[in-house]
Amino acid sequence: MNTLFFGYMPYLLLATAIVGTIYRYTTNKFSWSSQSSQFLENRALFFGSFPWHYGIVLVLLGHIIGLLTPSTIFAWNSAPLRLYILESSGLALGLLALFGLIALMYRRLTNNRVKALTTSWDVLLLIILLIQVVTGLGNAILYRWGSNWYAAAAVPWMRSVLTLSPNVDYVANLPLITKAHIFNAMLFIALIPFTRLVHFFVINIYKYLWRPWQVVRWYSREVRTENIVQYK
Ligand code: HEM
Repeated sequence: MNTLFFGYMPYLLLATAIVGTIYRYTTNKFSWSSQSSQFLENRALFFGSFPWHYGIVLVLLGHIIGLLTPSTIFAWNSAPLRLYILESSGLALGLLALFGLIALMYRRLTNNRVKALTTSWDVLLLIILLIQVVTGLGNAILYRWGSNWYAAAAVPWMRSVLTLSPNVDYVANLPLITKAHIFNAMLFIALIPFTRLVHFFVINIYKYLWRPWQVVRWYSREVRTENIVQYK
């Protein structure tokens, strides 16, 4: 089972992400956006989007630093105070992201104008993201000190996958919630080309985080404006 989920599936899901991205880019280039709904509703979006993006981008930055240079994590964590600072910052940022995500889900499912333009892909994506954040927080809360064993077990596994010599022994004995977190992350990556997540490939992070708010119009092949008129 471990071999299937952590030895073969990573390649199947990565291939889905790559082929799907190329297909979407070549067949439907103008749909390449986050399809902002800011012009439909702005206030609740602000209270969800702001904590979500700041929380999740910084959490993922921590994951990426650990992946690129696990020795930096071990060196940083060698002093207990620094370990506590890293762990509590990760937890706080994860909780911030969870708050933002719940606010975004609430907005998407309760605001009629936004709901009318919500697809099944959007709902699936929100569920996958919720599972990702909840299992991440579960790891952080139930199994201390996650940053250390992330660098010691999860990172070597990810590196083994990326170097095409998968070694499932690194993750085989991790707790179920951690395995769910890792597998769900792969599902999430596979979903990127099929959802509004394609905006990852075009954002300019620096400008995105510091620029003033702006209203964005989006393009869709289907004419779906009658719903907006109906709910005015
Ligand atoms: C889509 C990608 C991912 C997202 C959005 C995500 C999100 C999160 C969140 C919100 C947390 C809780 C906050 C924290 O403690 O840092 C977390 C923790 C964690 N994640 Fe992820 N994660 C992702 C991918 C992964 C992957 C691929 C792995 C391992 C291969 C992983 C391993 C961990 C571990 C071990 C923790 C606990 C860290 C700690 O206790 O300090 N995550 N993740």
